[in-house]
Amino acid sequence: MLIAANWKMYKGPREARAFSEAFRAPKGVEAVICPPYVSLAATLESGHVVFAQNVHWADEGAFTGEISAPMLRELGVTGAIVGHSERRQHFGETDETVARRTLAALESGLRVIACVGESLEERETGQMELVLRIQVEAIADGVGTHSGLVLAYEPVWAIGTGKTASPEQAKEAHALIKSFLDVPVLYGGSVKPENAAELLSQPAVDGALVGGASLEVESFTAICQAAASLS
Ligand code: PGA
Repeated sequence: MLIAANWKMYKGPREARAFSEAFRAPKGVEAVICPPYVSLAATLESGHVVFAQNVHWADEGAFTGEISAPMLRELGVTGAIVGHSERRQHFGETDETVARRTLAALESGLRVIACVGESLEERETGQMELVLRIQVEAIADGVGTHSGLVLAYEPVWAIGTGKTASPEQAKEAHALIKSFLDVPVLYGGSVKPENAAELLSQPAVDGALVGGASLEVESFTAICQAAASLS
């Protein structure tokens, strides 16, 4: 089972180093840490598996503010999150750019966690299936079932809101996603030590992408332990 810590725009190198020195991944779970770019090196120092939070599709070029897959690989980073809903919502990320980033990262030898998920309005107006199909197929058309690819189902209404998909909702969405593209699917959206075991024990839930609860060593460790006890 894969449990990824998405730190978002939290923790500079000093805090990242302190966390990384204190954190030990329990046996039986693959823990991945996704710090901001400036804290990647500090997090790698303790020997953890480290992914970036985004990656560009070109190897190099005139793309101010972007980072490429070969640059991440040179540092020792082994994967990247792509298409997080915060990137789609605030930074103009589209299904097309998500697909381009995913393909380039995989071709460069990085692993990828590609995020999909519906908004509350889309769910309430019965468009969840269509939205997930479009998002997943954009990725699938480019890369298919690549061994380095996992998807993350992150219902936008559950991210950072304290609201979690019910185990039933997660089970249903994960099965749907796998019917479009058969790769491992992580659940993300207010995963906490209190709800991790129940969510992770659902069929087709292959791990978690954790935001807020990954910022403290104690709560992230507890979530990893819940995963380890299921595997
Ligand atoms: P959250 O974030 O756990 O704080 O809801 C999850 C994510 O955005 O990856």
